[in-house]
Amino acid sequence: MDVIILAIESSCDDTSAAIIRNGTVLSNCIANQEAHRQYGGVVPEVASRAHQANIIPVVEMALQKAGVAKEDIGVVAFTRGPGLLGSLLVGTSFAKAFALSRNLPLIEVNHMQAHVLAHFAEAPRPQFPFLCLTVSGGHTQIVLVRDFLDMEVIGETLDDAAGEAFDKSGKLLGLGYPAGPLIDRHAREGQARFPFPEPAVPGLNFSFSGLKTSILYFLKKETGANPDFIPQNLNDLCASIQTSIVTILLKKLRKAARQTGIKEIAIAGGVSANSGLRNALEAMGEKEGWNTYIPAFQYCTDNAGMIGVAAHYKYLQGEFCGQDAAPYARNSGQ
Ligand code: KG4
Ligand code: ZN
Repeated sequence: MDVIILAIESSCDDTSAAIIRNGTVLSNCIANQEAHRQYGGVVPEVASRAHQANIIPVVEMALQKAGVAKEDIGVVAFTRGPGLLGSLLVGTSFAKAFALSRNLPLIEVNHMQAHVLAHFAEAPRPQFPFLCLTVSGGHTQIVLVRDFLDMEVIGETLDDAAGEAFDKSGKLLGLGYPAGPLIDRHAREGQARFPFPEPAVPGLNFSFSGLKTSILYFLKKETGANPDFIPQNLNDLCASIQTSIVTILLKKLRKAARQTGIKEIAIAGGVSANSGLRNALEAMGEKEGWNTYIPAFQYCTDNAGMIGVAAHYKYLQGEFCGQDAAPYARNSGQ
């Protein structure tokens, strides 16, 4: 019998709903919240209110696009955490209410696990075990993935996430929020000719706060001498920042691959949409003899499709949750 899952994602500032039938994503609808741009970052209270306004229309759109009636839904899945509590509560409450009213089973999904499992939405799918560099606005992790639901974080950031490094550096350049995609666009036209120091972090962990500070001091010095330094060098600055972040990420990923002997290498999360990272991963993969996996754009940034795919594998394992599953802000292990 067909298993049709309604999946809900509301952990940060995107309200998303998806319909997944037997592991295949039929629709994946996302309502982006423009309201945060004027503040230069996500405002939690604004995000929760926008989720409230968006959740019903986005679910209706997902049903319509999938050609599925409400009555056909057999399972409801939702992001339980990590994320902003107020945001998570909207999706969680909606999912619970929908399931309760129709007497349907519920599946809770860990957002970071879902970013990894986004690789199973479409071919080519990585073989187990594989390494996944999960890079988003809130997280930077190297995950050793032994099976669909058997994952271990073997490296992570000690301070800022890679997406935060993009966004905060972009803010210093006067770019809008989120700056990651804007830096990506400018970097394509520029040369990485400003060297920023690489942090010396032992093992497989990362640090990005030093990079932000060195960019800040560099810009202060240069704009002191020439107030137009940023607009005159914007493309090269973006290329330099992007190259620095990508280099830090890929050096640790290569270290993890060599240490574990794993050659199935994937990237996931919002920053995996970055063209510099995608190109550099492919180039490194050729040199190192890796099979590399990069998700389609719609599965990189936050989306309910990946929540539904993760829920499908939890469904196959019989991993359901109760109405008492409370959201959590921080990761509680995967
Ligand atoms: O996974 P995601 O949508 O949300 C979180 O779970 O955080 O990731 C959002 C992050 C933001 O920091 C954004 O600037 C970054 O992903 N991002 C990019 C690009 N597209 C999104 N960073 C660099 N280049 C991009 N093309
Ligand atoms: Zn995310």
